[in-house]
Amino acid sequence: MTLPDVVQAALDAVPRWDGHYLTGLEPPAGGTAALLDLATVVRGNHVELARLRPLAGKTFAGMFFDPSLRTRMSMSVACAKLGAHFVDLEPGSGLWTLEFEDEAVMDAVSAEHVREAAAVLGRYVDALGLRAFPTRGQWETERTQPVHSAFAAHAGVPVVNLEGPFAHPCQGLADALTMRDLLGEPRGRKMVFTWAPHPKQLPMAVANSGIWAGASLGMDVVLTHPEGFELDAEALSAAAGLADANGGSFTVTNDRNEAFQGADIVYAKSWGAVTGSASTAGGHADAFSSLKGKWLVTEADLRRGAPARFLHCLPVRRNVVVADEVLDGELSAVLDQAENRLWGQAALLLALLGR
Ligand code: CP
Repeated sequence: MTLPDVVQAALDAVPRWDGHYLTGLEPPAGGTAALLDLATVVRGNHVELARLRPLAGKTFAGMFFDPSLRTRMSMSVACAKLGAHFVDLEPGSGLWTLEFEDEAVMDAVSAEHVREAAAVLGRYVDALGLRAFPTRGQWETERTQPVHSAFAAHAGVPVVNLEGPFAHPCQGLADALTMRDLLGEPRGRKMVFTWAPHPKQLPMAVANSGIWAGASLGMDVVLTHPEGFELDAEALSAAAGLADANGGSFTVTNDRNEAFQGADIVYAKSWGAVTGSASTAGGHADAFSSLKGKWLVTEADLRRGAPARFLHCLPVRRNVVVADEVLDGELSAVLDQAENRLWGQAALLLALLGR
């Protein structure tokens, strides 16, 4: 099987890394840009690639500890388009309950240790995807993405993060691809990443990966959120480093009105506080009731200058996070963004399994 020249050239341009994709920051310098180029080429050649089946004989297992529509479907369809087999695993629904603690005496519920489970899966498949949200334990532990790290340590095959406590790198790839599609040359354009209200305390993974996506494109990224909803210091530092390396900038403000001025892209997402009073269930409920409405994204927010395009990773709570008029209007790009999950992940699969 020979790939079309344009696909082979784009694949050859992606630098190799150790194989795991847990934060999206693993590829060496230029790697994310090369993955985006490959994603664009795969999108333009997907009919031919489906005929050639470059990943025939390869198997990818997606293990979903938490619900998903887009990630599950886009990874499954990306595998199908490249000829790979996708296995969908749902712990808690027909799989043994897993133990993650080292040296645990397993005399309670857990029937299998991740050491064996991951290693066995690694004997069956060529790569493993994992979705596991934070369990609202200590943030110092959650931020290390312990479930992902445990599988990565023991699987012996590349592990892809399908959303964890700290990062959603496949979403970040799609976000960057969508902003490139919308803006042509994103460098120097303004991306506003805004906190949004939500009744639940959601992970901050999409926010981290979103600001990294904008910064890696050399955009002027402005993160805005109410006081008390600060992102993790390491995530902020990574965004600043990426912006610096790629000719962009990264700033944080609690002033929503100031942030929205002159935006080219407005990306909304809710996340729960990990420290301070809003980090408790009661504190979050109080914050939600006082901020609901004030941080809702409306069409007027997008039309403060040249109209900004609206992004959200989905699923989204209508008229809590964003008004109907935005989602149903011409400025929304959320469906293109969701479609780009497919092309970004197809590129990632080729880079991991198709050399
Ligand atoms: N954006 C995203 O990850 O969607 P799902 O939760 O449906 O997979």
